Amino acid sequence: LRPLVILISGTGSNMQAIVRAAARGRWRERYGAAVAAVISNRPDAKGLAWAAQEGIATAVVDHTAYPSREAFDAALAAAIDQHDPQGRGLVVLAGFMRILTAGFVQRYEGRILNIHPSLLPAFPGLHTHRRAIEAGCRFAGATVHRVTAELDHGEYLEQAVVPILPGDTPETLAARVLTQEHLIYPRAIERLLAAACAAEG
Ligand code: GAR
Repeated sequence: LRPLVILISGTGSNMQAIVRAAARGRWRERYGAAVAAVISNRPDAKGLAWAAQEGIATAVVDHTAYPSREAFDAALAAAIDQHDPQGRGLVVLAGFMRILTAGFVQRYEGRILNIHPSLLPAFPGLHTHRRAIEAGCRFAGATVHRVTAELDHGEYLEQAVVPILPGDTPETLAARVLTQEHLIYPRAIERLLAAACAAEG
């Protein structure tokens, strides 16, 4: 089995989209892949309850309980590896709002993904929608990319574009972008799974 371990910090709507796509697309039968666990750095993340209800294993690695990024990342890696002992799964960041150390990223190199709510390389970092509106952009969007040690860099796997409309606020724009995130993230993962299966013959 190829485990998908999803990391969240909040609502988890992307996580939900991925879980639903996995069921609808029969990823287990077709690619031998399944969402094995949802891990949050925040004990109060709403997505945890949803995942638990779906019968998915959940875990909390609370960053406030660790003295350093290195210590937090070590605990996070231990939690991930528990659900992916063979180290062949995907680590899927879905609204996970912690910056990861280079050491952590290296450990999962090539199989750690993120979704970022901008058309990278524009607007890495936070407050992407406010910054896009303030810059006078006519379009915004989201990017699914492989994670490298440099924040919001790494090979782009999927992007989606939405218009910025007159009167848009960061909130209205975020909602428009989010609907597209829910399409491109499952699509990007499914393509990787299909490619991995093909490569294995
Ligand atoms: C999404 O818009 C995602 O792109 C963004 O947080 C939101 C999480 O929503 N991620 C980042 O900003 C990463 N730096 P969700 O919890 O409902 O999936």
